[in-house]
Amino acid sequence: MISQKMTEAINTQINNEMYSAYLYMAMSAQCSEMNLSGFAKWFMVQYHEEMFHAMKFYNYLLDQNSAPKIKAIKEPPAKFSDIKEMFEKTYEHEKGVTANIRGLMELALAENDYASQNLFKWYIDEQVEEEKNDVEMIAKLSMAGDSPATLFMVDGFVGARGLHVESDFTKL
Ligand code: FEO
Repeated sequence: MISQKMTEAINTQINNEMYSAYLYMAMSAQCSEMNLSGFAKWFMVQYHEEMFHAMKFYNYLLDQNSAPKIKAIKEPPAKFSDIKEMFEKTYEHEKGVTANIRGLMELALAENDYASQNLFKWYIDEQVEEEKNDVEMIAKLSMAGDSPATLFMVDGFVGARGLHVESDFTKL
């Protein structure tokens, strides 16, 4: 059993993760509009990862006999000036998510809630990976500069990203 405060904090984080999914879906849509199908796929894979993050929290609440509360998701920005800006915004967003996860861990430590600490450890490791991906992508896009030919090549490279999380949430 977890505290009411912890239940509310996890519910808020479910919403944050759903917003992340929505944000990356918006970015994927814009990439498709720009005929950058590799980047569109990259962001759609990221959408699925965020849904996985949300549902992992959701199932944890159910396992703890606590009720998930489904709240409204705010609208993400619709337009970005270019691909590099998308990844800069992604990186800023993910740093915010890292801070959210740290806040959850601090609450779990303060409450001696060992089960939640175990769960949050998974997310802390995941955030290291997420931020690393963004930093690498920003560096690659900086190297590509304004060259359409190089951007076309990078688009092919990033489109090779596969989905490595469970997308059937009944199996979580
Ligand atoms: Fe769920 Fe991208 O953090």
